[in-house]
Amino acid sequence: MIVSFSLCEKTYNNKDRIGEFFVKVLVTGANGQLAYHLKEALRNENYTYIGYSRELMDITDSLKVNQVILTEKPDVVIHCAGYTNVNKAEHNYEQSYLVNCVGTKNIAKASERLGAKLLYVSTDYIFDGEKGQPYIETDQPNPINVYGRTKWLGELEVKKYHSNYFIIRTSWLYGNRGDHFVKKIIALANTRNTLPVVCDQIGSPTYCSDLADKMIEIMESNKFGIYHVSNTGFCSWYEFSKKIFENIDHEIELIPVISTNLTQSNQAKRPAFSALSSIYLNRQGFGEMRPWDQAISDFLFQYKNNRLFNKEGE
Ligand SMILES: NC(=O)c1ccc[n+]([C@@H]2O[C@H](COP(=O)([O-])OP(=O)(O)OC[C@H]3O[C@@H](n4cnc5c(N)ncnc54)[C@H](OP(=O)(O)O)[C@@H]3O)[C@@H](O)[C@H]2O)c1
Repeated sequence: MIVSFSLCEKTYNNKDRIGEFFVKVLVTGANGQLAYHLKEALRNENYTYIGYSRELMDITDSLKVNQVILTEKPDVVIHCAGYTNVNKAEHNYEQSYLVNCVGTKNIAKASERLGAKLLYVSTDYIFDGEKGQPYIETDQPNPINVYGRTKWLGELEVKKYHSNYFIIRTSWLYGNRGDHFVKKIIALANTRNTLPVVCDQIGSPTYCSDLADKMIEIMESNKFGIYHVSNTGFCSWYEFSKKIFENIDHEIELIPVISTNLTQSNQAKRPAFSALSSIYLNRQGFGEMRPWDQAISDFLFQYKNNRLFNKEGE
């Protein structure tokens, strides 16, 4: 059963209503792609979902954040909101800092005051990409663009102002909502026969649905700390694209190109090798994520069956 209020979106389930199980999870950035999958996953697991979009709670407004969190009294806050446009961030440091760092501080302070657990979603872009192999949780961040820097500053605010936190670092997200790489490249392929794709940036593509499920498992524990949560393995954007078109049986000539030949000078620098790997998921008993190629096949199987990119997802 879904109940919509004028203030925010809430979903209740029958168990909640008869009081057997009542864990409230407040999600920030509720209109974003990850938040969409979290809503689905939380609902499936019988949690009470409370979603706040930017219009309803601008995280840069500390008074509003306090008022919402202290009134809603969630048991857990999942902080998905962020300034996520990597190229735009490069020319909007102040706004990016305000949202990703100050906004995160506001969320951390309010949820600590309430005693709610906090999950902050961070990124592989906090790393410089120079390691040459996947980054683990204990590696030292060294961001090379504004987005990565401000997300890392956000992590530092979480550590400073919250005591029961999870920092979930993830990468290269795609899912049923939002304007992500998979959706964009499929749309482009419908308009031409050849496509140049970057082959010298390597990362771990991650299906938001897998991420949301793992985040809920982690959230249910008290094993606080930093986790790298991406589908396992890694590939370049070029290899990722090949896999995408194989899966949807679309014939197209993909041309591998190095990023300097494709990116414009006003775009953000991106880490060359920002794949993530986790030493803590297994150690803490959560288990590994499935490989990236299995996850994309699963996602595109649904795409082929026309179950994706519907009206809401465009
Ligand atoms: N996408 C990726 O590949 C990726 C990779 C690693 C980590 N992450 C992190 O994962 C999280 C979720 O990413 P996503 O891809 O789901 O992002 P997304 O689709 O861009 O969603 C982010 C949401 O944050 C909201 N927001 C922006 N400024 C806000 C503010 N001042 N107050 C409240 N809400 C605000 C946006 O609202 P509007 O819709 O109104 O702009 C948007 O709905 C982010 O924290 C991101 O940094 C993403």
